[in-house]
This record gives sequence, structure tokens and C-alpha cells, in this order.
Amino acid sequence: MYRSHSCGELRTSDIDKQVTLSGWVQKARDKGFMIWVDLRDRYGITQLIFDEERTPAAVVEKAKTLGREFVIQVKGNVIERESKNPNIPTGDIEILVTELEILNEALVPPFTIEDETDGGEDIRMKYRYLDIRRNPVKNSLMFRHQVAMKVRNYLSDEGFVEVETPYLIKSTPEGARDFVVPSRMNEGQFYALPQSPQTFKQLLMVGGMDKYFQIVKCFRDEDLRADRQPEFTQIDCEMAFVEQEDILHIFEGLTKHLIKDIKGINIEHFPRMTYDEAMQTYGNDKPDIRFGMKFGELNVVSQHKEFKVFNEAELVVGIAVPGGASYTRKEIDKLVDWVKRPQVGALGMVYVKCNEDGSFKSSVDKFYDQEDLSKWAEVTGAKKGDLICVLSGAKNKVRGQLSALRMELAERLGLRNPEEFAPLWVVDFPLLEWDEDTERYHAMHHPFTSPKPDDIPLLDSKPGDVRANAYDLVLNGNEIGGGSIRIHDKETQALMFDHLGFTPEEAKEQFGFLMDAFQYGAPPHGGIAFGFDRLVAILGGQETIRDFIAFPKNNNGRDVMIDAPANIDQEQLKELSIKLDI
Ligand code: AMO
Repeated sequence: MYRSHSCGELRTSDIDKQVTLSGWVQKARDKGFMIWVDLRDRYGITQLIFDEERTPAAVVEKAKTLGREFVIQVKGNVIERESKNPNIPTGDIEILVTELEILNEALVPPFTIEDETDGGEDIRMKYRYLDIRRNPVKNSLMFRHQVAMKVRNYLSDEGFVEVETPYLIKSTPEGARDFVVPSRMNEGQFYALPQSPQTFKQLLMVGGMDKYFQIVKCFRDEDLRADRQPEFTQIDCEMAFVEQEDILHIFEGLTKHLIKDIKGINIEHFPRMTYDEAMQTYGNDKPDIRFGMKFGELNVVSQHKEFKVFNEAELVVGIAVPGGASYTRKEIDKLVDWVKRPQVGALGMVYVKCNEDGSFKSSVDKFYDQEDLSKWAEVTGAKKGDLICVLSGAKNKVRGQLSALRMELAERLGLRNPEEFAPLWVVDFPLLEWDEDTERYHAMHHPFTSPKPDDIPLLDSKPGDVRANAYDLVLNGNEIGGGSIRIHDKETQALMFDHLGFTPEEAKEQFGFLMDAFQYGAPPHGGIAFGFDRLVAILGGQETIRDFIAFPKNNNGRDVMIDAPANIDQEQLKELSIKLDI
């Protein structure tokens, strides 16, 4: 038996017990006549004591050879500690060791295995298994497990069945590139790894599975960010015989349950906002509504003077920054520089200080008088002491830029409190999105999303105006889920493919299996998928998903620990009939 107890378990009530513990040496202090060792495992830390007077001499000698992260097993007696440590649950006791076995030696770890480590991101990724020994990472993984259990139990109690769908499939278009896998047995042909189980879950509905879910890996070859990994996990769900309202209801229930159970926060009802309203009010389809700074459109109150920049702009829009009137000239100049960074891309920023005495001081005083500026304050909701920041330009661009500024300022002002939870449904997404690069419309969600029936006549005349039965769930400014009511008849699906620029042959070649299935009694259906990594990270008070994934990839999509992706040898390539030309 390697252990009778864990390293987090023993208390004063265990004093005088003979115990066996196993774990890693966190720290060893050798005072000559006495050696203390902190022994660590997943459950905690227990202090061991080797005492020249009470521990056999050979054991003391062996203890002197212990180094950090050695794996050891000890037997000993639980005794009361002389100087207690109130900071850890086992701090009242220690183990007077009588036997010591070194189970495995360890090299000196490349960074300290402490909550606050001296290891940088790169080195911790390379030695991820050591990083997992640290509390912050270990706790994040355990937290992820807890959330997964709660999700499974909740959905199972609601009658959902977890069904596994294949990973070696044909490409599903969800907007990103596919990862592909060559097939040895089918020369020159490739599987694609699923960007999501979208078509399979729809086929499960045709199969009568009614209420499906799956906590499932998805793969997307896209640029990485803090909230994006090339392989990530979804809570993928689908239901038959439902309307949008049913889906929102059920999954609002799941999210509420998680927030209540994990955070103790009761949220009665999730607000809803249309996509148009979100874009107009926050410049963003995933607004963080924990704070205000709503957009005020200033065209009407700013395009009547000689200021050419505004007069020529499609949109003039501002936000009121609380307390910003006290910013110094230098601080404001820095803000202007910030919006001009290529990542944001604004050409400049106009500002108005709303002074405490009710007067205004702006960077465009030459063009606008106090009465003009007071109107700007009214539209943006600026109060005395605030700073109005105004950007102008092409509507979509300028909204994105002001949204970036709004988020940055909120971060700086400490308005993005990770312990506060503000969910929001964004509904009525456009069905199609114009793509500048390919100069054609793309499905904004995916090609299986149904248009709002009232908008179908617009498909030919104004495709960009057609709204979809599509919705996103936003939490604290992050898109944590998205879904739609699907098309379930062959004709509408064919119409959709047509509008996406597929010829009937291409549609048949890629999605014939789905269109065929629709002819055998496909029920009305719809669903949603949550980004599980994102959901866990946000519930854990963070926005970076990496620490909630056991073995994540770095920003270049590499696993630096196993050094992947990597070359494969000629033999393997030959077997797969692949010739590399690089
Ligand atoms: P969608 O593409 O919106 O919908 O994805 C659903 C959710 O998955 C999360 N997500 C990601 N998380 C981490 N890394 C990524 N690279 C990544 N990409 C997406 C987001 C997102 O909201 N099949 C549809 C769902 C449906 O219609 O039912 C789909 O996949 O949180």
C-alpha cells in the first residue's frame, strides 16, 4: 500500500496514528539535527519531520539526500506540531518519520512549483506536467471537471442523451479552415476533423434522437487568441420539435443553474437584444453589459458645422468615460495614440471634457460652441466630470474601433469585475454576411440556419437584410454559445446553398447526405453549442482559456511539450501517397 492517507487529510484528531504517505518533496530544510520536508500531493501538503533523536539514523541520512520533486513514501507517527501553521489545513500536525523510501528521484525542476512561480509562459508550456502540479493550474482543471459534471447531470436530468459523433468526417463549413487527415486506404483522399458535429447532430434529429448533447472536441484551423484554441471543446446540443423560444428557455436554464451552483449568484432572467441594437449601442455583437458607456450617435448634432471630418463621415459616434474630465493632456494624447494603433485603426479622436462647472472644453472648440457640445453630452449620457470620446468614419469600422476603446477604458477603470456575471442573448442575427475578400455572401452562422420566414422574400432583393433564427449567448463580453433553428426541408436548404453561391452539383456533392435525409421525415429542429473552455474560464473569473485546458497549444498552434506538429518520415508519406513539394 503506497498510502493510508492523502497529504491534505490529517488533523489533530489523527494524532498518534501510524500513517503511510506518498507524494512529492515540495521543500526540504536541513537544520543538522532535524530535517523538515513538505510533502505534496494533489490534496495538499503535510509536514514531515526527521529527528536525529527519534528517527532511525539511516532514515535521517537518506532524508539528507532528498531534493525538490523527489517522489517518496514515508511511514510515521502523526504528532502535534510545535509551531503551527494556520495557513494550511494540515498545519496543526506533522509526521515523525520512521521509514523513508525514495520511489523516484527528480531533476531540479526548471521553475518553482509554487502558486507564484518564477517560470515564464514558454517554459511552463514545455514542462506542462510540472505546471499541472501547481495549484492554479491543478485547481483550474479540477474546476473544469466540476463544471462538466454539472452540465452532464443537468442535461441528463432534462432528458438529453449524450451521443458520440465521429471525428473523421467530411468537412463541415463553419467559417474556419479544416484540419485534414489523409486516408491510407483511399488514396489521395482526406478526412476532415469536425469544426463541430453540426451535420451529425441534425442527422440525429432525423434519427428521432429528440434531445441530444455531447461534450465534444472540435477542430478549427484559425488564428489563435486568448479565447481561441485550434482544438477546443463544445457542449453541443440539439433538440427536435422546438422553436427558438424553447431553445433559449432550456439553455438559459442550464446557464442559470451553473452560475447559481458555482457562483451562488441568482440571475432571474437573461436580457435580450437584437443584433442591430447590439451593434448600434455597443459596436459589437457580444457586448459586455456589466457597465454603461453606451454609444451615442452624433451625426445629427455634429454635421451642421464646418468640421469636414465629421461632415464626410458615415457615422459620428461617442461614449462618455466616467470621471474622464480629469485626464491630463498627456493622458488624453496617449488615448489618441491608442486608438491610432494599427490594431484599432482610427485616424484620430475628438474629445470633450465635461467640466464640473457645467462648461465644456473640446479638441474641436474652433467648430462647436457650448450649446453644440451640451447636445453631445446629452446624446452620450455624459455627466459633469466625464470625458466624451468621439470617433468618425465608415459605420462598421468606426463601431469596431469605438467598441475596442470602450473595452480598453472599462478594463483600465476596473469596470470588468470578474465576480459579476452579466449574461445576454443576442438574437436576430443576419442570415448572410458580405465577404470583402471573396466578394460574395457567406452564411453568418452556418448554411443550415433558417431564415426568418417573413424575410425570405428579401433573399433576392436585399440578401444582407434577411434575418436568421440565430442567437448567441454572451457572458461578460464573451460569446460563450451560439445556435439556430435549422432548415429542415430540402427546398429551403437548396435555396440557401444557391444564395451562398453553390451550384446544385456542388451542394449535392458536399451535402447530398443531409438533403437526402431531409426527404425521409426530418422534424423541425434547432440547437446551440457552448464554448466549454470559455464558459469554464469565465466562471473561473478569467478570459484566457489556456489554463483551463490540460495540454493547450501556444499562439502558433504548436504543442511545445511534445513538439507538434512535426515532420513525418518518407515511408509514412509514401504509404499515404503524399508527395511534399517544399
Ligand atoms: P459556433 O461556431 O458559434 O457554433 O461555436 C460555438 C461556440 O464555440 C466556441 N468556440 C471556440 N472556443 C474556443 N476556441 C475556438 N477556436 C472556438 N470557436 C468557437 C464559442 C462559440 O460560441 N455548430 C454551431 C452551433 C450550433 O449552431 O448549434 C457552432 O459550432 O464559444
